[in-house]
Amino acid sequence: MTAKRMLTGDRPTGRIHLGHLVGTINNRVRYQHEYESFFIIADLHMLTTRNRPTDIREIDTNARELVLGNLAAGIEPEKVTFYLQSGIEEIHEIYTLLQSLVTVSRLERIPSLKDMARDAGIEMPFNLLGYPVLQAADILCVRGNIVPVGKDNAAHVEVTREIARRFNSLYEPVFPVPELIKGDVEILVGTDGTAKMSKSLDNAIFLNDSPDDVRRKVMRMYTDPNRVRADVPGRVEGNPVFTYHDAFNPDRVEVESLKTRYREGSVGDVEVKEKLATALNRILEPMRERRARYDRPGYVECLIEDGTRRTRQETKETLHAMRKATGLSGVWNRIHRKAGSLDS
Ligand code: TRP
Repeated sequence: MTAKRMLTGDRPTGRIHLGHLVGTINNRVRYQHEYESFFIIADLHMLTTRNRPTDIREIDTNARELVLGNLAAGIEPEKVTFYLQSGIEEIHEIYTLLQSLVTVSRLERIPSLKDMARDAGIEMPFNLLGYPVLQAADILCVRGNIVPVGKDNAAHVEVTREIARRFNSLYEPVFPVPELIKGDVEILVGTDGTAKMSKSLDNAIFLNDSPDDVRRKVMRMYTDPNRVRADVPGRVEGNPVFTYHDAFNPDRVEVESLKTRYREGSVGDVEVKEKLATALNRILEPMRERRARYDRPGYVECLIEDGTRRTRQETKETLHAMRKATGLSGVWNRIHRKAGSLDS
């Protein structure tokens, strides 16, 4: 019996921020010791909304950024296999074999796909509708048991579970039904108080922001708009500064006292923000140090190259099992045998 596996990852579109940390990366760090872990750099998924040559040319630097972000957050390179999705040719066949196990209308009901099309300002491309099915192929190609992802990916894991069950019952039990691991915070608000933290909305604090950047971003954060002076009672609920205190400040006593004083109007926004910036920088400082340690020419690329080789081997084995379970390999073998019996 092999160890249980974790499969997760990201599209190579940018830097890692605090939203990723509480959405998925903290879980990755927690589970890496217990599970054999594979982290995908999902460049084929990126092509669903960004397929221009200029986007594609950025994949390697973004992949590097992604891996460094994970290592900075505390992922240990000996524990985790990082791999580039487009380096695994067999993934396309697995994807194809899974496509008959889900309906178009099931996929059309997933809101995240429509959101992605809208955000990209495009009509739904064929591969964007199939996004969760390719994600199922990613998860199932290593027979993943757990998938720690943020809320916007939860529906994709649900589709994966349905597909795995369907495959197992229609053919043979090849796949574990993977389990979704939810984030510590489902969706982290941006520093502007709107929607969610996101690079494209320019409301993110990145893991490798400098201490000054962090302080500056925090000092500009949206708080309770009705609070014009420090002696006016303020709202803690729904106030992004306190949401961040709750999510990131380990000093619970300090947080509770700030909340009490804020509610009664005996602490200024500046002090609350100063303390938040300090707490954030305390978390980010060891991450900056780790990042600097791993940031050597060729190091990350080596991890990706080795990891992709290793994952490709796993994927080949899974595909082999799938061809056997479906009966496709039998068809090919029979044709091959009969072709060999031709007497010339
Ligand atoms: N969909 C993920 C994202 O939003 C990336 C991804 C692709 C993924 N395949 C995966 C995540 C498999 C977890 C498991 O970027």
